Amino acid sequence: MHLRHLSLTNFRNYIRLELDLPLGLTIVQGQNAQGKSNLLEAIVYLATSKSLRAGSEAELVSWQVRDEPYPFARLAAEIQRGERVERIDITLLPNKGNGRFRKQVRINGVNKRAMDLVGMMRTVIFRPEDVDLVSGSPGQRRRYLDIALCQMEPDYCRALSHYQKVLAQRNALLRNLAERSAGNVGEQLRFWDEKLVESGGLVVARRQWLIHELEKEAALVHLDLSGGVERLHLRYLPSFDPGHQPAGAHAAYPGAQALRERGVSYPDLTADQARASLLAHLYAGRSRDLAAGMTLVGPHRDDLGFYLGERNLRAYGSRGQQRTAALASKLAEVAIMARISGEAPILLLDDVMSELDATRRAMLLQVIPTVKQAIVTTTDWQYFSADLLADAHRLQVHEGRLQICGPGVEDDVSGF
Ligand SMILES: Nc1ncnc2c1ncn2[C@@H]1O[C@H](COP(=O)(O)OP(=O)(O)O)[C@@H](O)[C@H]1O
Ligand SMILES: [Mg+2]
Repeated sequence: MHLRHLSLTNFRNYIRLELDLPLGLTIVQGQNAQGKSNLLEAIVYLATSKSLRAGSEAELVSWQVRDEPYPFARLAAEIQRGERVERIDITLLPNKGNGRFRKQVRINGVNKRAMDLVGMMRTVIFRPEDVDLVSGSPGQRRRYLDIALCQMEPDYCRALSHYQKVLAQRNALLRNLAERSAGNVGEQLRFWDEKLVESGGLVVARRQWLIHELEKEAALVHLDLSGGVERLHLRYLPSFDPGHQPAGAHAAYPGAQALRERGVSYPDLTADQARASLLAHLYAGRSRDLAAGMTLVGPHRDDLGFYLGERNLRAYGSRGQQRTAALASKLAEVAIMARISGEAPILLLDDVMSELDATRRAMLLQVIPTVKQAIVTTTDWQYFSADLLADAHRLQVHEGRLQICGPGVEDDVSGF
């Protein structure tokens, strides 16, 4: 897979960009706030139809055009896979009157659903936030799993989106019921429970699978990285035990706390098993859900734990250990993505060099030759060896404009 060309119009601070990208390593250097992250965000947006940063589509449209009568933004990519060249584009168009934007997706010029786009261009992005994956929030770790799984399996992406919609509806009902106990509570909840587990089961089972795969790869990388003896474990920390069926309505669930600490491992769990178990847990947890006015079990409350031996790194790891584990699991993601899809993903590294010490930096850079295409942003050229720089396609970004750095120019642009 080769992202050959990227076009941006009115996307963030890129008013107009036409960029050819070669195979191999591209390094984009720029000072802060010039457009490094925006560039990689655009690529991930084309790959997943989702932004890693923006809360709404409107944020992605350049401020400079917001007040125009018909503001829009457009992103397009030309991807080569074997002999075939595919063109994908997303146009953000204003929704009448409400200040929001909707996206229009096309593949080879034909209108498609956003879901159809996912998987056409697979990426693994590593951002400064990911360095803190182990110590960060559970939501961040769920997003990490979801972005990887969505690109590997379109079915996962559909299930996740269905789950989130149904969850919002179930929660609205719970809030409603908390205010006025109306109608047949059990029947209404049953309806949403069944809808919720339809997709929830798949989400749980596939996350469990990915964590198991990540663990195998990450443990190997981690041994290398730490030069150590301790083995890294990744464990699924679900809000309910998918291998356990509570006895009935309002059943006590005493193991929940231990579950969140030690995690579970069911690498062969099927979506059907997870469905049955989640349904039973929703049923058993009804009175708790009603009291809380929201759904307390399900994959929206899952977490992922990193362990050295029995020690949870989030609680007991040093910052260095946490970072090594995060790096190992990111590198594992590259390997798994390559294995599952039969081709290496496009590797995107957003300004992470400055976050890592020299040893981890060197380790990270070793992954570059294992992929066909890598796009790396940096504030400083000095993080890269002369060898790497000599082979790299070098660009500089300034206020949303990119220019190619000719030989020798990098001495000037580094600014020191
Ligand atoms: N919708 C937008 N329209 C125009 N400029 C934007 C928009 N969103 C962000 N920016 C600008 O983009 C710049 C940040 O770009 P970014 O890619 O995050 O920088 P960095 O090079 O530090 O990664 C900032 O100057 C910010 O103000
Ligand atoms: Mg940035």
